[in-house]
Amino acid sequence: MLHPSLETLEGFERLRVELEAFETWIKPTAAEHAAREAVIHDVFAFAKKIIPESSLELFGSHRTGLSVATSDIDFRIYQPDVGQGAGDRGPNLTKPSSRKLNTQRLRLLYSAMAEAEGFMVSAIRPLAKYPLMTVQHLDSGVDVQIVVSNDTVASREYIKKYLAQYPALGTVYMVIKMMLNVRGLSDVYHGGLGSYSIFMMVVASLELHYNNRRDDLAQHLLSFFSLYSKLDTSKMGVSVDPPMLFAKTPNGKPKLAEKQYGDATAAGRHQIGVVDPLQPYLFCLQDPADSLNDLGKRSYGIKHIQETIRVLHKRLLQRVACPSKESLLSPLVEVIIPREHIHWLIEQPDSVLDTKIVHTDLLALKYMSPTNGVFENFFHEDIVRRDLTRQLGALTADIGDELLAALGDQWGTDTEKWKDVCVYETVQEIVTRTSNRLIVGLPLCRNAAYLRAIKAFAQSFAVHSSVIRVLIPDLLKPLLAPLVAIPTQLNSHQCNKFVIPLVQERLAAMKRKQADPELKYEEPNDLVQWILNYAGEREQAAESEPANVAARIVILNFAAIHTSTFSFTNTLFDLLSTDPAAHYVDQLRAEAATTLADAGGVWSKAALARLVKADSVIRESLRYTGLGGRGLVREVMPKEGITLPSGQWVPQGTRVGAPIERIHHDERYYDHADAYEPLRFVEKGEKEREGARTTEEYLKSKTQALVTTSDTFVAFGHGRHACPGRFFAAQELKLLLAFIVQHYDIEPLAVRPPNLYVSDFTAPPFKATIRVRRRVVSL
Ligand code: HEM
Repeated sequence: MLHPSLETLEGFERLRVELEAFETWIKPTAAEHAAREAVIHDVFAFAKKIIPESSLELFGSHRTGLSVATSDIDFRIYQPDVGQGAGDRGPNLTKPSSRKLNTQRLRLLYSAMAEAEGFMVSAIRPLAKYPLMTVQHLDSGVDVQIVVSNDTVASREYIKKYLAQYPALGTVYMVIKMMLNVRGLSDVYHGGLGSYSIFMMVVASLELHYNNRRDDLAQHLLSFFSLYSKLDTSKMGVSVDPPMLFAKTPNGKPKLAEKQYGDATAAGRHQIGVVDPLQPYLFCLQDPADSLNDLGKRSYGIKHIQETIRVLHKRLLQRVACPSKESLLSPLVEVIIPREHIHWLIEQPDSVLDTKIVHTDLLALKYMSPTNGVFENFFHEDIVRRDLTRQLGALTADIGDELLAALGDQWGTDTEKWKDVCVYETVQEIVTRTSNRLIVGLPLCRNAAYLRAIKAFAQSFAVHSSVIRVLIPDLLKPLLAPLVAIPTQLNSHQCNKFVIPLVQERLAAMKRKQADPELKYEEPNDLVQWILNYAGEREQAAESEPANVAARIVILNFAAIHTSTFSFTNTLFDLLSTDPAAHYVDQLRAEAATTLADAGGVWSKAALARLVKADSVIRESLRYTGLGGRGLVREVMPKEGITLPSGQWVPQGTRVGAPIERIHHDERYYDHADAYEPLRFVEKGEKEREGARTTEEYLKSKTQALVTTSDTFVAFGHGRHACPGRFFAAQELKLLLAFIVQHYDIEPLAVRPPNLYVSDFTAPPFKATIRVRRRVVSL
């Protein structure tokens, strides 16, 4: 929320003032600065004892004055004789001999710091292009990076020159850096943009929009958004000096001699701008300090980054046009906490950090909710948590029956011919039908018109709630959002045509049974019935109103369909694009066959628990591909704000979340974190179970199961708001995977069809197909 004096300012002026305030807030305070100086002193003193013969120097943001309160402090180990001056080729690989020597010194330092009391080492990457280690200084909590690299004097000179030229540059850079950082998009090892690249991107946008005033913060920020939201990175590259956009070089075009381009920087652009045939969209950004250094080429997440920039640009423009009480910058810099603080986050009561308000806003329930007011009470979540999970054992046979029938309908039963199937569409149909076997029961779950209506509702709900949230300014929401919500309301009306008569029928049957306890009537075991029973137990007559029950049914359909369909579609694409020589599909087939035979030919909850390979394959896709960058999002409720464990104060209304994608790809928690290893959790689980001696230890060792959440596996959230539907989802998806491998041959994929990235979310490709053929099996 905003200081009241700012509310009266006109949009652009307010943006300028907010940017200045942001810079003051993010820069280290005097005390933090002193603490950082102490860290620098300690590291130098320690290194001098361990590797006295080598040189260590500060570089990076602390040296250029661009550090923020949470920045790492960067040091480099170097060989004094391999420096270079301005104008020389820039930071390139050191000579092999000195690189080897310095990497040995880095390892020495790492081992010594691991033993020392004042430091906690976290990682070493001796084989990286620039070998590096990261360590935390325990007294201050400041992270330190030590890297083996050449001198960066030429780059530093450029940074100095541009900072002097544009007084507003540092501030804009810090906002952009923070904006990408909180979304996990500033980590070069995971396809993000490093600090130096972000800095030069900001410089290029300022240089190219030369009409701007050199000190105009607001204009500079908007110039950045405007350039990079529109840039077609598959066709154009960006040069900083001279400032220009240049056409990328078609792959295969012959290389010419330097003089034929005019100068070395033009030759450099030709060389680094060659289109990569496999990833033509890769960003090309020419380093002003080294014309042959492409600062964008490692940022393979550029599509994701650009989509984030586009969405945030729109939201910023809306806020500038119609300022409200909310800060203009708040969509850019929501607070992301580190993994270490997740326990603190999930322990906070809802009166401090709330989820409902976030869900209500994310889903635009105020406008999209099919029956007004029904979502003031989210009791359907308790029903999923309580009844659905409790009934899973009794319902396994129903789930299997529906899955097998739906799979046959979608993928065919011809054992002769191969068939192309669209994975997303067919999985969505199977999941919708199976979920509805538990939600509304037979025969409605097989009614084609009902299923069409439910899918249309889920689709339109997803699209239109995003439109309301992202594209309509807050001030115009009361006016425009009800209009945007109309298609969803119509779809929900279509669903009601089926659900309301079903609820009426159930109520009538319950009444008859009440009047005559001898009457032969077996209550159905499905979600509609659990809702009616829940309302009856609590004497909440309004909650048994058919329209209210129908409203909960359609929303639960939305929760169940999208997440499960996306997750399973990702699972199939990830699995089928592994090396066929690894025979993962065969291994899953063998596991399903043995488990079913051991279970006497009948799938049960206990039998499903033994499908550890299927369990791991789905969990690994949730980790590796996932559904988005951030999770565990909560809103700060107390008027006076709250203080985070890091000591940072955040005001009421701030959204706080965790970087789930970054956690899932962190080497500290997952070996080979950037590799897809479908059986990773089987191996991890086995190791833990081996060590278990008592039943209690054995049970505790189930930490690697699909449904087990932790602060390092957060695909279903964690803590008391963790997804209550995950037990059902796990059962449904494992059984579906077992049926697929048992009943179908599937052609492996040469290349994984890429996912779509929209802002912070990722979705599987909607139209990609695979080839399948029904197997002749006798089960
Ligand atoms: C693979 C499939 C699924 C995934 C990846 C998934 C993921 C999630 C995540 C990340 C959350 C938010 C947790 C948080 O904010 O801490 C959530 C919440 C929720 N999910 Fe799921 N979900 C899945 C399937 C389902 C199904 C099948 C249902 C219903 C039958 C369901 C019902 C819910 C509900 C009601 C909540 C809100 C819980 C609360 O706020 O207390 N989900 N889910």
